[in-house]
Amino acid sequence: TKTADLLPPLKVAVTGAAGQIGYALVMRIASGEMLGKDQLIDLSLIETDQGMSPLRGVMMELEDGAFPLLNKVTATTDLNEGFGDAAFNLLVGATPRGPGMERADLMAANAKIFAEQGKALNDVAPIGAKILVVGNPANTNALVASHNAPDMWPEQFVAMTRLDQSRAAALLAEKADVPVKDVDRVIIWGNHSATQYPDLSHARVGGKWAKSIVDDKWITDDFIPRVQKRGAEVIDARGASSAASAASAAIDAVRDMQLGSGDAWQSNAIPSDGSYGIADGIWYSVPTVCHGDSHYRRVQKLPIDEFSAKMMTKTEKELIAERDSVRHLLPGHEGKPV
Ligand code: NAD
Ligand code: LMR
Repeated sequence: TKTADLLPPLKVAVTGAAGQIGYALVMRIASGEMLGKDQLIDLSLIETDQGMSPLRGVMMELEDGAFPLLNKVTATTDLNEGFGDAAFNLLVGATPRGPGMERADLMAANAKIFAEQGKALNDVAPIGAKILVVGNPANTNALVASHNAPDMWPEQFVAMTRLDQSRAAALLAEKADVPVKDVDRVIIWGNHSATQYPDLSHARVGGKWAKSIVDDKWITDDFIPRVQKRGAEVIDARGASSAASAASAAIDAVRDMQLGSGDAWQSNAIPSDGSYGIADGIWYSVPTVCHGDSHYRRVQKLPIDEFSAKMMTKTEKELIAERDSVRHLLPGHEGKPV
């Protein structure tokens, strides 16, 4: 690409940029895989005080990568400076779950971080800024951030369930013995947690209905629990939570949102509007169609069988309980129903 053909720089902010996911993520943003090979990038890396030293190393490596699309890299601990003018904000920084830890253990500490970040985004984010929440508990962190950003649209905040979708698609492809590109319409409903419902009711394998290829017993006894527990399986094996695959999913999710992905279905956790009988106002993963420029639409009116309805309610209940446990961080709702 000639310099003259390149689009003027867009600022992309990444929190937790020196962490495991951040390390994999910033390299791929810089190489143009997220926003396209003609888009110049200003990277704004946000870390804690302790994160600043490793972040300096990441910045050296970004420099040494000599990425032609990378216009500028800045590092800060100041949220207003980091998020100011950023068109895209990837909220990755949080304390990750270690071996034997439950997500609930992390809830309070991480929700506080996202309340502060929501406030800062409200003050400095440009109109139309896009927010992808990766740090766990991702759905509830998105809810907390959005509630603390009353001047922004809740729909600007999306929590990532793309990794779960990719895991589900890969597992189905392996079972059906086809390349993963032949699998589509896999859905992740609900929370990015072990209650999520990976749903094959509408999935297709090489254009055929997945359920005509794999049997129900495999779906209930193997597929669903394996996708639900894949995060923990990776933690047990690596001694650390998934990082390269999580970064890859974030790249896929933002790229599809921004550049569009035709009529493909992409699961994203977005604010519920009551569709499918899901409680209003929780960040619940649903299938979406991405039209580009970050316009997305929830896939509506899918038939839901009894088994699916039960699974969808279970993960909804967990999200309602998570919301209740962070009510003290939702302005105006302290001690009151949301
Ligand atoms: P990590 O510990 O390697 O990195 C986290 C980084 O965030 C650290 O460098 C830390 O200094 C920084 N940080 C912590 N608090 C911060 C704050 N308030 N502001 C800025 N930076 C801050 O963790 P990781 O493996 O990169 O994982 C990051 C998060 O992503 C975790 O919450 C993890 O559970 C989550 N995760 C989500 C998914 C998903 O699919 N949604 C998948 C994998 C991991
Ligand atoms: C994952 O899905 O790999 C992460 O969210 C890690 C976790 O805590 O489950």
